[in-house]
Amino acid sequence: MTSTSSLRLEKITPDNVAAACRLDVRPDQQDLVAPVAWSLAEAYANPETAWPRLVFDGDALVGFVMAGFDPQSPVEVFRCGIWRLNIAADHQGRGYGRFAVAAVLAEARRRGQSRATVSWVPGDHGPEKFYLKLGFRPTGEVVHGEVVGAILLSGLQD
Ligand SMILES: CC(C)(COP(=O)(O)OP(=O)(O)OC[C@H]1O[C@@H](n2cnc3c(N)ncnc32)[C@H](O)[C@@H]1OP(=O)(O)O)[C@@H](O)C(=O)NCCC(=O)NCCS
Repeated sequence: MTSTSSLRLEKITPDNVAAACRLDVRPDQQDLVAPVAWSLAEAYANPETAWPRLVFDGDALVGFVMAGFDPQSPVEVFRCGIWRLNIAADHQGRGYGRFAVAAVLAEARRRGQSRATVSWVPGDHGPEKFYLKLGFRPTGEVVHGEVVGAILLSGLQD
């Protein structure tokens, strides 16, 4: 487990955007999440609702997370939740994913939200056990082939 004291989120800047686009998950995980460059294009197209951030451990770029906050959306999974999470292949299994999810949930609480969602590709090679471990529970919905999970934010600590 990584010490959380050196972990932080950073906004995308002209200085870090190229490194962000090079950040990659393992080859066998490419079907689980969009490439970072794709997500940044979506963020560019949805500037009011997308919340893209890089995860740094000290000087090392270790991950990317993008949340979406659109409380008025008719589509529930777009109201408050995690759209993307990419932990770099060489940096997985050290608590960075957990840190990124906690940071999104803290931001959601800061915005007055009481529930957050995520969706994941079903199956053993996907992130289902990760999200279950962090407290998300399947809602019973499947959107575009992905299982929707939700977590209540009351009672969680920042
Ligand atoms: C899924 C992913 C985000 C997890 O990030 P990570 O930094 O490797 O995970 P963490 O180290 O923070 O793990 C937190 C806990 O979940 C567990 N966990 C993580 N991935 C797991 C998996 N695939 N199966 C079972 N448990 C898992 C860890 O063992 C850890 O448990 P612990 O607290 O008991 O030690 C990362 O593997 C990844 O980027 N995968 C490819 C892309 C993807 O699936 N993204 C999600 C799109 S919705």
